[in-house]
Amino acid sequence: MSVSPDTPHPIDCLGRAMHDLRISVTDRCNFRCTYCMPEEKYGEHYQFLPREALLSFEEIACVARAAAALGVQKLRITGGEPLLRKDLPELVAMLHQIPGIEDIALTTNGVLLPRFAAALRAAGLHRVTVSLDAMDDNTFATMNGGRATVRDVLDGIAAAQAAGFDAIKVNAVIEGGTNDQEVLPLAEHFRGSGVVIRFIEYMDVGTLNAWDRSRVVSSRELVERIGARFALRPLGANYPGEVAARYAYEDGAGEVGFISSVSQPFCGGCTRLRLSSDGALYTCLFATAGTDLKAPLRANATDADLRDILTGVWHARRDRYSEMRAAQRTSRPKVEMYHIGG
Ligand code: GTP
Ligand code: 5AD
Ligand code: SF4
Ligand code: SF4
Repeated sequence: MSVSPDTPHPIDCLGRAMHDLRISVTDRCNFRCTYCMPEEKYGEHYQFLPREALLSFEEIACVARAAAALGVQKLRITGGEPLLRKDLPELVAMLHQIPGIEDIALTTNGVLLPRFAAALRAAGLHRVTVSLDAMDDNTFATMNGGRATVRDVLDGIAAAQAAGFDAIKVNAVIEGGTNDQEVLPLAEHFRGSGVVIRFIEYMDVGTLNAWDRSRVVSSRELVERIGARFALRPLGANYPGEVAARYAYEDGAGEVGFISSVSQPFCGGCTRLRLSSDGALYTCLFATAGTDLKAPLRANATDADLRDILTGVWHARRDRYSEMRAAQRTSRPKVEMYHIGG
């Protein structure tokens, strides 16, 4: 990635540059994944953020503009489920116009893609990543709270392909004893399809999923299992700090990725800043607290003021939760995944 020599690119306390901004646009979701927003805790009466608590598209664009002026080139739109945010393609179009932004990606559970894929593409979205944890409907329903079938998600992926997206990725969280038997069916389904599947180690994000290390299936084990069926060869990273370790199928049927936040943490290359839907900046997926940007935005902060806040937050950053996991596994409060996106 080329960055103009006069772009400041803040560096944190551990020598990491700010490169990407992940933007959560809503805390709502139409799924109830057991590892993120379990049904028993997020039933019908759960109070999500009221409309006025969410940043407006203009406010989000102001933050993205400040980040871009500091050297950020890559944006990812997340949720909750981002396609539940009304008129999302309008936000994409606004972000697309920001000088310096070269890559805008979306993380979605996929079921609303048939409705929105074409408009998102026309608005300038570059890439789509869809979550899918099983090929078997019963297993998938157990994991998503019974909110969608595998077919619904596959239809979403097909709609994204039909709309012209070509770098589609699928994320599958693997939880031992729940869906690890789905690893081969998932790998087999996406082999040769042009869609890259990445298997994610089940993480202790948030406070609600009763995480237990014994249910983490290590990427090493998954590489062995898939490799025993289809020969694999390691590939280099696409870019410095890529979270997924990539492997190619020896027979030319494409590639597969493994995201090993538990067994092989990648904090050393973590260049991601996160913005929650209610306007707080977080410097780690496992943060306890964020820095409020909504108040300054609503008090007419200038672009320069926003750049100063972002720079100050980044300069103070020392997070490396995954590398410290063993030492930190106390019951300290942590932000929930649906609040800041994946
Ligand atoms: P691209 O390479 O740009 O496509 O994105 P990515 O590899 O960062 O992928 P994505 O945003 O889809 O991240 C996939 C998953 O990796 C997320 O859903 C998280 O589960 C995990 N992940 C991403 N970023 C981090 C991070 O900073 N820390 C940890 N612990 N996990 C992360
Ligand atoms: N562990 C690993 N990945 C998770 N995701 C959500 N919660 C967890 C968790 N506890 C992933 C989802 C989706 C993305 C938004 O984050 O599967 O791919
Ligand atoms: Fe929704 Fe994604 Fe959380 Fe599942 S992981 S409940 S799809 S935000
Ligand atoms: Fe980055 Fe925090 Fe994840 Fe480490 S645990 S890679 S610092 S978000």
